[in-house]
Formats: sequence, structure tokens, C-alpha cells
Amino acid sequence: MMSDGANSMWGGRFAGGVDAIMEAINASIGYDKRLYGQDIAGSRAHAAMLAAQGIITAEDRAAIDAGLVQVQGEIEAGTFTFRPALEDIHMNIEARLKEIIGEPAGRLHTARSRNDQVAVDFRLWVRDQADAVVTGLDSLMRAFLAQAEAGADWVMPGFTHLQTAQPVTWGHHMLAYVEMLGRDKSRFEDARRRMNECPLGAAALAGTSFPIDRHATAAALGFDRPTANSLDSVSDRDFALEFLSAASICAMHLSRFAEELVIWSSAQFRFVRLSDAFTTGSSIMPQKKNPDAAELIRAKLGRILGATVALFTIMKGLALTYSKDMQEDKEQVFDAADNLMLGIAAMEGMVKDMTANQDALAVAAASGFSTATDLADWLVRSLNLPFREAHHVTGSLVAMAEKKGCDLPDLGLAEMQSAHSGITEEVYSVLGVDNSVRSRVSYGGTAPANVRAQVARWKEILG
Ligand code: ARG
Repeated sequence: MMSDGANSMWGGRFAGGVDAIMEAINASIGYDKRLYGQDIAGSRAHAAMLAAQGIITAEDRAAIDAGLVQVQGEIEAGTFTFRPALEDIHMNIEARLKEIIGEPAGRLHTARSRNDQVAVDFRLWVRDQADAVVTGLDSLMRAFLAQAEAGADWVMPGFTHLQTAQPVTWGHHMLAYVEMLGRDKSRFEDARRRMNECPLGAAALAGTSFPIDRHATAAALGFDRPTANSLDSVSDRDFALEFLSAASICAMHLSRFAEELVIWSSAQFRFVRLSDAFTTGSSIMPQKKNPDAAELIRAKLGRILGATVALFTIMKGLALTYSKDMQEDKEQVFDAADNLMLGIAAMEGMVKDMTANQDALAVAAASGFSTATDLADWLVRSLNLPFREAHHVTGSLVAMAEKKGCDLPDLGLAEMQSAHSGITEEVYSVLGVDNSVRSRVSYGGTAPANVRAQVARWKEILG
């Protein structure tokens, strides 16, 4: 089936219409309509510059500007008809502008191409998203920080290999995520700085012979400067790749805490309780309270990293400059950005909502011979044993306790001395978990005093 007539935007040398399948594969309006605000902002800046440079008249510029404002109003009111035959958001808006203002609409595209138009629209969109992610991460970091402050001295087991390793503080564990999210935030801020150059005015690929002022349009759209090479301007999608890469790392961090929440909220761990707000029940098992939101956050990296791989694969091997392949960039970024924002918001909700079960944490912290390293360190400090020997002596005491079915502090002094005769009563002071965490005062260590200092530092940073 053919659609009737040639495309009014580029149909000059085309006699017939395009095949319906061609229209279906070619059209991006179904998703790039999300760029309408950026497209209209870019066009208004371009028209203002064209008039200021004497390339179009002030009257035409005024008509274009008023028309574009009307189009924006129609889109926002939901009365605008998006037409797939007009391919994309750029041509849909321009066609409607022509219906509203007539001939001057045709002057808007002077010294411009859809290649630089889509490049600037998409950059503006990704820039907005980077800002939104930074704001979202700020709130999420504050939520972790509040947990850290409340539980600066609550003890819990620290794990390696998901095996009890050494006691740590709840606050220290929460602050680990503040550090990760802080790095994520800086990655988005850094990507934003690099993407903040304006490609508008590169035109199709070679620049233009019209006396345009690219510095003016760049400034009007909040960019630091215009891009320096017209070929690069229309073919570059690094800004989207950097956004997706930062999003992937961030989503990976979210998935790790999500996994911890899944483990911690299980009946076997009972480290945290999640409220009804972020859990669901089971239709058959009345006792169940499933951490669905955490599971979904854990899964989000799948599609976000998928989008990253997709865009790298789309861009790989593309000869300069623009190729239609690049139209496939947007859906990936839209989906990744939407899901990252959702994941950040849901995680913030859960972090605010969760209640630590301090008793269960303390019991778990003290089990699994978690203070064995403290015992070994004491042997080094007090008896001057080489660490390797201290490790060996401690190992035999752990084996003894395991055999008796008790914890290290439950061994009698005589039993202790059977492993090393120099052991004194004093050893018991290092076997308690509170003493253990209090002793870890090395910079970056888990001691409550360190946690409080780091909370204060982050509060200052986050303002
Ligand atoms: N819809 C297109 C895209 O998203 C706009 C650019 C089209 N340029 C072209 N030369 N056909 O990439």
C-alpha cells in the first residue's frame, strides 16, 4: 500500500508516495515526540539568531516564534495530531507551523538541517536527564545518610563471600552506598560538562554559507560554547553513550543494595523490616511479604546495560557523518533514563521506609566467630606473636569452640591457655562486638566515631 503523494518536506524530486512498510520503519514520531520541548526551544533560538543576523526579517521571526508557542500549547493540551507520514517530531512541528503561519514557516529551516536539529534536541534532553538523575541521587544519598546517622553504632555482621567476616556498624554499611552514589553523581556531572557544547549550526554536515552566529544560539540554549567541528557535531553520540555508561554503573550499585534488601528482609536474616508500602503479599501463602520493589530494582540493570550495549552496537563502525542508524539511539536512552529514575525513586522510598532490626543485627554480629580477627590482633599486640602464628592459635581456638558448640567468649581461660600459655584474662575485652567495632578507628574503618565524622562530612557536601 502506498501513502498518497510525496512528502511535503523533502518531496521535491519524489513523484510517488512511500510504501507503508517504508513509512513504518522510517517513522520515529512514536517516540521522538518526547523531544517536542527541546525541538521548539532549539527552533526559537535559531529563528531569533537568523533575525538578529538579518537572514530572516523581524516580522517572519515574530510569526515563527508565536506559531511555535502555539504548537507547544497544542502538544501540551493534547490537541496536536502526530502524523507518522511526517516521520519525526521535527517535521511534525514544522508542518503544523506552516498550517498556522503559512509561508514564513518555510524560512525557519534556513542554515539548518535535521541532522544538527536532532543532535541539539537530543543533547538538550540528555542534559535535562543528567540534571534530574543528579537531583534524584542527592535525595537517595540523604536517605542513606539518615540511616547512617541513626545507626552509627549499631553492630551488624560484615561479610565477605556472604560469610560472616568481622563486625561492622550499620552506619558504616549505609555510608558505603553514599560513597558509591557520590561517584555516580560525579559521573553524571562530568558527562554533563562534556556534553554541554551546541551542535546547532553545523547544518547537514559541512556548516553553512549563511552568516549565522553559533555562539548566540549556544548561549541562548544554555550551552558553554558551540561544537568546533561540523562533521563531528552531527555524527557524535558520545553524550548519550556517556549517560548510558554512567546509568549502567549507577544501576549496578542500586542492584547491589536491592539484593542486600532481598537477603536482609528474608525470614532467615530478619535484618530489616520493609513496610507494606514497598512489598506485596502472596495470593496463596498468607505469611509472605515479598520485597518486589527491591527485586525489580535488581533487574533494572538488565535493560539499562542492554540499552548501553545497543547504542554502542548502533554506533560501531558508522562512517562519518549522520546515518539513519542513529535514529535508533533515542528509544534506548529514553527507556534507560525512565527506568533509572524510577529505580532511584523506589530505592529512596525503601531506604526511608526500612527499619533495621537492631537485636537481630547484634545477634548475627556476634555469631560466626566474628571477632576471631580481634583475638589474633590481640595476640600480636599483647604477646608480640607474629601475625601468622596468631592466626594459627586463633584458628585452633575457633575449632575448639566449634566442637563445643559455643562462641569464642564462652571458652574458659584454661581452654584459651591450652592454645597459647601467654593468654590472659584481658583477651575477653576484645572478644565483644562493640569493642571490636570501636577499635576499628583507622581512617575509613567502621568505628562509630569514624561513621559520625563521615556523616558530618557528607552532610556538609550535600548541603
Ligand atoms: N528522525 C531523525 C533521527 O532521529 C532526524 C534526523 C534525520 N536526518 C536525516 N538526514 N534523515 O535521527
